[in-house]
Amino acid sequence: TDTLILTAVLAYLLGSIPFGVLVTRAMGLGNLRQIGSGNIGATNVLRTGNKGAALATLLLDGGKGALAVVLARCFVGAEDAAQLAALAAFIGHLFPIWLGFKGGKGVATFLGLMLALDWQIGVACCLTWLAAAAITRISSVGALVAAATSPLWLFVFDHGRLLILAVILTVLIYIRHAANLARIKAGTEPKIGQKKPQS
Ligand code: G3P
Repeated sequence: TDTLILTAVLAYLLGSIPFGVLVTRAMGLGNLRQIGSGNIGATNVLRTGNKGAALATLLLDGGKGALAVVLARCFVGAEDAAQLAALAAFIGHLFPIWLGFKGGKGVATFLGLMLALDWQIGVACCLTWLAAAAITRISSVGALVAAATSPLWLFVFDHGRLLILAVILTVLIYIRHAANLARIKAGTEPKIGQKKPQS
């Protein structure tokens, strides 16, 4: 139990590193909280106009989710510990201690941890996200479609052991996208790269 608690705490701390804020600041692009949606993710970093910064944020936020899983596997071994680390890293991104628990929406971290937990499911989720975002040109739609279809991929690839985790992550992603969902309904959700007012 001690090992599991330690795993969860370390994964939480790893997940709570707000790479979007750090990359944006390091590259002299301003305070991400005052740009676009104010969100800390790659989609909002792209609203600075710097594609490299957005890509770096996507990879780093995804990478921390994957790393939490890999580290848990290396040091604890059990697959339950890897799933716990995945959830803790995700929670860390959503509620980071460094930002007064006001974090992001978890999409990149979700994709990264899924890739590490099961590469087939991860690739399927990434491709779903890319396809839905490419068709609609709206990042949040890509995220919402990818999250909602993740349990379906578990069924297709016969990896039911990830079902509870996938459902929890999907519900949290939907809760975090409440403002996006309202804008999508109203037809005011901006396309990828477009600026948008603080909300
Ligand atoms: O991945 C987050 C994305 O789905 C929405 O971000 O900044 O448009 O609210 P944003």
